[in-house]
Amino acid sequence: MLISFILLGKYLEVLAKGKTSDALAKLTDLAPDTAFLLSLDDDDNVISEIEISTQLIQKNDILKVAPGAKVPVDGIVVRGHSYVNESMITGEATPISKKLGDKVIGGTMNENGCLLVKATHVGSETALSQIVQLVEAAQLARAPVQKLADQISKFFVPTVSFFV
Ligand SMILES: *[C@@H]1O[C@H](CO)[C@@H](O)[C@H](O)[C@H]1NC(C)=O
Repeated sequence: MLISFILLGKYLEVLAKGKTSDALAKLTDLAPDTAFLLSLDDDDNVISEIEISTQLIQKNDILKVAPGAKVPVDGIVVRGHSYVNESMITGEATPISKKLGDKVIGGTMNENGCLLVKATHVGSETALSQIVQLVEAAQLARAPVQKLADQISKFFVPTVSFFV
C-alpha cells in the first residue's frame, strides 16, 4: 500500500509538471517570432523597414506593429493610435486605447491601428519573460508540503517495518 501511495504521489507530481510545461510553452508562444524594425531620418520619417527576429531587437529600436499583429517586446508608443487586447497578460477583457507615450506589453494583440513602438524592455527583461522565469522557478522549487511528506516518510517507513 505504501509503495502504491508513493508511486501515486510521483505520478501526480509528473502530471503537474507536465501541465506547467504546457502552460510555459503557451506563454512563450505569445510573443511573435519576428518584428518590423524601422529606421527613421532626422525628421522622424521612415526610411527603411526590415523584418528581423524578435530575439535581435535591442532597447530603443523603433518597431512597426501592424493592425492584427502582436506587439513583439515591451515598449512605449511613439506614433499612431490603436486599441490593444492585453487580456492574455492582464486579464483585462476590453482592448485598451494606446496613443503617444503609452506603454505596450510584448505578446499582446494590436487590434485596429498601426503603432510605432520604441522598445524599452527586451529579451529576459520583458513582462512575458519575467512571468515565464517566475513559473520556472516555482516549478523547480519543492512545495513545503513535499518536504513535510519526506520528513514523515523518513520515520514512518522504518517504524512500520519494525512492527510488521
Ligand atoms: C482578446 O483576446 C482573447 C484571447 O487572447 C480573446 O478571448 C478575446 O475575445 C479578445 N478580446 C476582444 C475584445 O477581442
